[in-house]
Amino acid sequence: MKSQTNVVVRPARTIGGSVKLPGDKSISHRYGMLAGIAEGPSRVENYSTGADCASTLCCMRALGVTWERKSDGQNVIEVQGKGPSLDAPKAPLDCGNSGSTMRMLSGIVAGQSFTSEMVGDESLSRRPMERVIKPLSEMGAKIESHQGKPPLRITGGRLNPIDYKMPVASAQVKSCLLFAGLFADGETQIEESVRTRDHGEVALRAFGVQLQRQNLAAGSEVRIRGGQRLHGIEARVPGDLSSAAFFLCAAALFPGSQLTLPNLLMNPTRARLLDILMQMGLSISVTQLDEIHGEMVGSLQIEGAKLKGATIAGADSAALIDEIPVLAAIAPFSQQGIEVRDARELRVKESDRITSIVTNLRKMGAEVEEREDGLKIPGSQTLRGAELDSFGDHRIAMAFAVAALRTEGETRIQGAESASISYPAFFETLEELAVR
Ligand code: S3P
Repeated sequence: MKSQTNVVVRPARTIGGSVKLPGDKSISHRYGMLAGIAEGPSRVENYSTGADCASTLCCMRALGVTWERKSDGQNVIEVQGKGPSLDAPKAPLDCGNSGSTMRMLSGIVAGQSFTSEMVGDESLSRRPMERVIKPLSEMGAKIESHQGKPPLRITGGRLNPIDYKMPVASAQVKSCLLFAGLFADGETQIEESVRTRDHGEVALRAFGVQLQRQNLAAGSEVRIRGGQRLHGIEARVPGDLSSAAFFLCAAALFPGSQLTLPNLLMNPTRARLLDILMQMGLSISVTQLDEIHGEMVGSLQIEGAKLKGATIAGADSAALIDEIPVLAAIAPFSQQGIEVRDARELRVKESDRITSIVTNLRKMGAEVEEREDGLKIPGSQTLRGAELDSFGDHRIAMAFAVAALRTEGETRIQGAESASISYPAFFETLEELAVR
């Protein structure tokens, strides 16, 4: 049993300051994996500081990849690429809490001529893996699981290409299959009916892989030819927009708040949060737009205003899946509230996020309606500080620390250490920004 840390968050008068965000989690995972199977060295600056991306690096080491984290304060990792053939691991690959590690790396180990076992913590062991087991098995990998859940035992080898239409909107699954496609004899085609984040496609191109992409009326289609070699890169990971979401939403709670976020990821498949917050009244201006290895980066200037309500549904729910917890946590303080639909996937994240949100909001005295695929939270509510649980889920811990800035009385969050899964310095940074 891991030791739990409680954090107390006191109400604030406003938010102000500038935050340099650690590297994006989604991009860091992909760079960590692809640098390992590339030829030659890679150097990645601003690699995510979160425990999840460290799990990816530890798994790569267990697969024979050497890498080093530089102690220069810039979160640099240097990876010696091993090329496409990795070493058989001597022990199970420990993915910790990281669904991204298990799902995406399974695409790489499925292409190896040995057996790997992949394990995770209690939360990861409850999460569905059928979504990668089915297509990878169709490609020829032999996979054993515990009724579609971890641990996974994957015996890989040369794979067959597939044409696969994804039944669930998941960027992790899309990346898994693109990575597996590198080890297939022929061309693999993946179609998604809802467009999800495209960091896998962008990263593969950065490492020298050719792929064909087409946006469809809804969703997209990607084709990748097997047998392509990757080369190492020198890169800098843009600041994590899903981590920035907590500060953006904190600023949204206070009319007149001022916030600067330099070097933030601006990839259009991730930036839906900015549109929603602007529709709700937040003023956001973007300066210094740039592109690094195909990823857009910009600096944001934010000013809080009276917050209107919003409805999140359809493709927006997939695009905002990691930001819904914090949007829901600030919803009672908006004028009209927030309704979330088509977000059943929230139930199979690090916790059942719909239940976690509803439980914590109710403890703060909020009125909220729980639905199978979402929630409805009325606006213009007054909330009180409370004893809350993170449910072992980093995004729940951080979302409710933000809500606690506007309650009457202080809030205690149990299991607050789970924030370190994606953002170890979160609570210190939030304290620095809070004006009391
Ligand atoms: C991620 C995709 C999303 C997201 C997760 C990171 C990724 O998961 O929730 O935090 O990096 O591809 P799904 O693929 O399950 O939607």
